[in-house]
Amino acid sequence: MTVHFIGAGPGAPDLLTLRGRDLIASCPVCLYAGSLVPEEILAHCPADARIVNTAPLDLDAIVAECKAATEAGQDVARLHSGDLSVWSAMGEQLRRLRAEGIPVSVTPGVPSFAAAAAALGAELTLPGLAQSVVLTRTPGRASRMPEGESLTNFAATGATLAIHLSIHNLATVVADLTPAYGADCPVAVVYRATWPDQRIVRATLATIEGAMDAGIERTALILVGPALSGEGFDESCLYAPDYDRRFRPRSATGASDA
Ligand SMILES: C[S@@+](CC[C@H](N)C(=O)[O-])C[C@H]1O[C@@H](n2cnc3c(N)ncnc32)[C@H](O)[C@@H]1O
Repeated sequence: MTVHFIGAGPGAPDLLTLRGRDLIASCPVCLYAGSLVPEEILAHCPADARIVNTAPLDLDAIVAECKAATEAGQDVARLHSGDLSVWSAMGEQLRRLRAEGIPVSVTPGVPSFAAAAAALGAELTLPGLAQSVVLTRTPGRASRMPEGESLTNFAATGATLAIHLSIHNLATVVADLTPAYGADCPVAVVYRATWPDQRIVRATLATIEGAMDAGIERTALILVGPALSGEGFDESCLYAPDYDRRFRPRSATGASDA
């Protein structure tokens, strides 16, 4: 029997993978992480499934649920929002389950940074402007940042920053990033990307605090960097007519260097 960790995506129920959907449908037990997993996704559970919201549970209680199910011969679908590779608390659950000898699988989901970029209609790695995306956060009540992972350090790279779990720290984000990026650097805040109440605020580091709408809190991403402008970047070589590459060799088009 297996505990299947499944990334439930950023919010829209049709942004679940087909593999995730089929696993949910095959598991008699489903544990889901609170309000960020939409009800429509739970509709994929079998009609008589045991469905448990783990928001009020501690780690011991979650592991106990998994243990009880697998000992009873039941697979478990364990749902977390977005993708599981970032801020899912999957790591601590995997460690406990592996120590108990309980088999696990992991199915990825659409991460919120990708959903936010899609909502903006933006590529975050534009040639000549940014070729890296930093997924980060600011310190929280329960989570300190490892030394070295400061916003000012990341700002020194000039990369596109996707800052999670930090909308309540917007003033600090602005203060930390302005010296490196400049006050004119574009910023986008995407609130509840892909949910029906999604909202987008576009501004600059100088204007973002004043531009924020009331009610944008918690489930919002702050994207910062020159690539957010969508302007002033180079074209990539990928589709350049004179670029020789494996799937479009110049010899096949009759092109020559002469
Ligand atoms: C606990 S983390 C979960 C991240 C998730 N595992 C992922 O793949 O994106 C929660 C944070 O992710 C961001 N987030 C999650 N879903 C979001 C959405 N639909 N729109 C905007 N931000 C979202 C927010 O910054 C929120 O504070």
